[in-house]
Amino acid sequence: MLHRINLLLALASTASAVCNESTLRLATDRYVASQTTGSLQWLGDELSNGTTYLENGKAVALASNQTAFSLPLRVDYRQTIFDTTQCASFTSLVDSDAVAPRVIGAQLWLVDDKVTKIDRIVTTPGDWLFNATGTLYYSLREDWGVIPPEKRDSRATIKAAADAYFDVFKNASVPVPWGTPCARLEGGAYTGRGLPTDSCNVGVIQSFDMPNRRYVIDETVGAVSVFVEFGSIGNAPDSHLFRVEGGRLRFIHTMTYCEKKPNCGFSFSRPGAGGAGIAS
Ligand SMILES: *[C@@H]1O[C@H](CO)[C@@H](O)[C@H](O)[C@H]1NC(C)=O
Ligand SMILES: *[C@@H]1O[C@H](CO)[C@@H](O)[C@H](O)[C@H]1NC(C)=O
Ligand SMILES: *[C@@H]1O[C@H](CO)[C@@H](O)[C@H](O)[C@H]1NC(C)=O
Ligand SMILES: *[C@@H]1O[C@H](CO)[C@@H](O)[C@H](O)[C@H]1NC(C)=O
Ligand SMILES: *[C@@H]1O[C@H](CO)[C@@H](O)[C@H](O)[C@H]1NC(C)=O
Repeated sequence: MLHRINLLLALASTASAVCNESTLRLATDRYVASQTTGSLQWLGDELSNGTTYLENGKAVALASNQTAFSLPLRVDYRQTIFDTTQCASFTSLVDSDAVAPRVIGAQLWLVDDKVTKIDRIVTTPGDWLFNATGTLYYSLREDWGVIPPEKRDSRATIKAAADAYFDVFKNASVPVPWGTPCARLEGGAYTGRGLPTDSCNVGVIQSFDMPNRRYVIDETVGAVSVFVEFGSIGNAPDSHLFRVEGGRLRFIHTMTYCEKKPNCGFSFSRPGAGGAGIAS
């Protein structure tokens, strides 16, 4: 009898660990609704009692009138990836409003059908190469479509490509699976020229660790979102989104919060273009 109860308990805990994809999608849509309305109430039922809320790497209290959500966001561009293994999603939102533009990345984490953590990188003018119009423009030109099942990389391959990219900032000998072509969208600045030879291998500032990595992986689109403390720019709170095709890096999008120091204290001779490749 005891064995039988233990077995039932084991089955129950396994069952609760299964991710309900429709709930994950619903919670993510409600998160977007809370951004567009500027009101957290739309997330209400989806939140667990002790939801952890991080903004630019810092824990903040989650309140119904949370200021971080209080300014309604116009969605000019939305991209979401779903990680049904970890029950998490990552959403990019771009509001290219002339007065209050914002580019936000959000990782949502669910346990037992409830949102237990919302981790966001929120960027505005002054953040790393910020240009919401540029982010919108280039994001709309890229193909992040579903990859046919027989051509998909494994989660491990996708994660390894992202890790190699971060590790080379510390160790120049790490082999990075650069794709060709590859384009980097850093803030709103783009390295791609639309040529078959476009490269993302345009230099990095060494020698820095990239700690506190949080991954959301969606193998259906070959994508991994990594939130990280960006070592070579003062451990700035950072979001990188990678598209991996055939094990190689194809697209890289970044959002980096600069703690109110324009461009995190870096200056470029050609703002909006010169920074791409210097640090991230
Ligand atoms: C997922 O959640 C929805 C909404 O609560 C529910 O209707 C559905 O049955 C669940 N699916 C599974 C596979 O548990
Ligand atoms: C959350 O807290 C409220 C009030 O404290 C309680 O009524 C509710 O049952 C709790 N929900 C869960 C899922 O624990
Ligand atoms: C948010 O709620 C707190 C506590 O109820 C209140 O003191 C504060 O004025 C509210 N802020 C806004 C912007 O409504
Ligand atoms: C922002 O990006 C847009 C679209 O690429 C471009 O036209 C504009 O010049 C950029 N602004 C700055 C300040 O770089
Ligand atoms: C640097 O990377 C290379 C290639 O992966 C590896 O062989 C080497 O041990 C690494 N060096 C350090 C100090 O980690």
